[in-house]
Amino acid sequence: MRSLIDIEDLSVDELNELIAVANDIAAHPEQYADACRGKKLATLFFEPSTRTRLSFEAAMIELGGSVIGFSEANSSSASKGESVADTARVISCYADIIAMRHPKEGAPYVASQNASVPVINAGDGGHCHPTQTLADLLTIYREKGRLSHMTVGFCGDLKYGRTVHSLIAALSRYPGVEVVLISPEELKLPSYVIYETLNKKKMAYRQTDDLEGAIPSLDVLYMTRVQRERFSDPAVYERLKDSYILTVEKLAGAKPDLSILHPLPRVHEISVRVDKDPRACYFKQVMNGKLMRMALILKLLNEASHGRSECGPAGDLLINRVRCRNPRCITSTEQELDQIFRWTEKENGICRCLYCEAKEIIDERK
Ligand code: CP
Repeated sequence: MRSLIDIEDLSVDELNELIAVANDIAAHPEQYADACRGKKLATLFFEPSTRTRLSFEAAMIELGGSVIGFSEANSSSASKGESVADTARVISCYADIIAMRHPKEGAPYVASQNASVPVINAGDGGHCHPTQTLADLLTIYREKGRLSHMTVGFCGDLKYGRTVHSLIAALSRYPGVEVVLISPEELKLPSYVIYETLNKKKMAYRQTDDLEGAIPSLDVLYMTRVQRERFSDPAVYERLKDSYILTVEKLAGAKPDLSILHPLPRVHEISVRVDKDPRACYFKQVMNGKLMRMALILKLLNEASHGRSECGPAGDLLINRVRCRNPRCITSTEQELDQIFRWTEKENGICRCLYCEAKEIIDERK
């Protein structure tokens, strides 16, 4: 069954197709009002959400379908110890498609391996958030008329900001995109994103802690919240939380056609006075998220009805007993995975956990 776990599960042609369908839905919503009549979406949210959950629900309702689900782990049987795998098998009996958010990296991937309906990753820990990336891509496309040949600044929490990781991966597939990474030392982009995406795709990038110095070169500025929920030490969060605050004054040197994006929720990192600036696009981004989720639901349900079944990351699969050591990985809590660890082989004998991004040198004799 085809699912969407990582933005790289979609080809560039498919991204462009989703953008085209989303634009068509915006222009002719009445033509889509019955497209999912009789179909059910299950929203399984083990972590808080406003936009993602409600935009999925609004998307399905506007397609003529209906919605079931829960908005916190405590109101599901996860609170009694039910596994993600069992939850996915059970919900497959009730719904035609699942959108799942979970604090553990790789949880939606586990769900996709056990569900008999498509699973959409609605955010897994600090790992990926592919449908936010779809919203971001549509916003950039609508504002700029292209997804190539531009300079995009990412500012704030680049370490835990899953939307940043997914958007960099998506933009790396379009030519001529240059990235400016603006963060304090402690919140720099993880080395796996630098290695796997920026270096491998030969994407031009530079790192700085100077937001004002970077602004004049940017076509797009992607602001992010410092992700309090990912910090083990509250004192570190308190020290870093207001590292960057975008103000009207700081925009003085910006290009007149700069587009300012933010996946939201915002805390303090964009002054509310910036909201009136025509370059502020973050509320348009919310609307674009619903349109792209409508296009995605249509695509995955259509493929499911035609029996398309490809799924999962590329690469040779190794299944063995070497435990992933990332405490944020779903393998640290999922009972069914206690003895099965899945790794994909990378160069020089280094393998990557298929659930998260942890790397290990695997000794196959074990
Ligand atoms: N952008 C985003 O994921 O928002 P929510 O956490 O409210 O879903």
